[in-house]
Amino acid sequence: MKVDGTHYRTIWLAEDGWSLEIIDQRLLPHEFAIQRLTNIGEAADAIRTMAVRGAPLIGAAAAYGMCLQARVDASDDALREGYAQLLATRPTAVNLRWALDEMLSAIRASVINDRVAAAYAKAAAICDEDVAMCEAIGRYGLDLFRECIGGRAEDGTLNVLTHCNAGWLATVDWGTALAPVYMAHDAGIDVHVWVDETRPRNQGSSLTAWELGKHGVPHTVIADNTGGHLMQHGAVDLCITGADRTTASGDVCNKIGTYLKALAAADNGIPFYVALPRTTIDWTIDSGESIPIEKRDSGEVTHMSGREGDGSVKWIQVTPDGTKAANYAFDVTPARLVTRLVTDQGTCAASKDGLLGLFPERRSQK
Ligand code: MRU
Repeated sequence: MKVDGTHYRTIWLAEDGWSLEIIDQRLLPHEFAIQRLTNIGEAADAIRTMAVRGAPLIGAAAAYGMCLQARVDASDDALREGYAQLLATRPTAVNLRWALDEMLSAIRASVINDRVAAAYAKAAAICDEDVAMCEAIGRYGLDLFRECIGGRAEDGTLNVLTHCNAGWLATVDWGTALAPVYMAHDAGIDVHVWVDETRPRNQGSSLTAWELGKHGVPHTVIADNTGGHLMQHGAVDLCITGADRTTASGDVCNKIGTYLKALAAADNGIPFYVALPRTTIDWTIDSGESIPIEKRDSGEVTHMSGREGDGSVKWIQVTPDGTKAANYAFDVTPARLVTRLVTDQGTCAASKDGLLGLFPERRSQK
């Protein structure tokens, strides 16, 4: 997608042809800065500290992290160490494990002298595939948006509610939940997005608002507790979020607070769609209860960052001194609350049959 007229992906090779460049998402929306990553430690830190974040982008960054490791030492032992180091960065998004498995088998299939080239080729393929999958999600999601418009008595703005950031910043390009939003906007549909701020890290108010603004999509940031009220008053036509891990039965793990929006949507008869590439499906588990939920530093709850009038960015305390805080990063929305999954292969019911209908090759693998 474009930033002030220039097309960017979220991760790319630097001019030297081997190091990586990323958009440092910790600084948005106040500063657009590119960070260079030159070794596996820097790649792991970028994922852990959320300079890069969002399930598909975490996978892409880890893939290139393996390239940086292979440049230094492409032996089986070093690759296994690199795999473990990157896997330990964040526990919930399954794209991380998927990308590392893909990288390990692609690299180990080559003789030692060819391993670096094989690693870079595989990482580039993972990124290109992510872009293609997100574009496909956008097209399938757009069909659902059109259905939703068709079912209404009169024309008018299509009001979409989203949570967290599931836009191009969370992927290599396009985004998952926001891909159909961009396509709808580009197709001339009058679409407006309610953007949940998404405490505690505010991926909605800082990242989603920023990227929608850069693309010219009308949007309004709301406090996280507002969605239910808007739904009760007819101000939301559909909800769409991304996912960090979807089980083989269609339970969806996504940013904390997603579940509450799904409950409110069900209570108000509003479609709740979840957009995800196939790389976010964990075929090894059926129940969302088996998904590891990341717990993060309580400082993300007790403190907030923001820009002062003089342009400086400050980190300020919002709770009394010494207050205990809990910081669960994700929750699970049971499949029964999800109206449809929107994948790169088409849309389906959030159920085992629904998913196997789209990915029949998985029947024999179970
Ligand atoms: O903690 P984050 O910012 O990595 O969480 C990201 C989300 O929850 C997204 O909504 C999710 O990755 C799906 S979008 C591609």
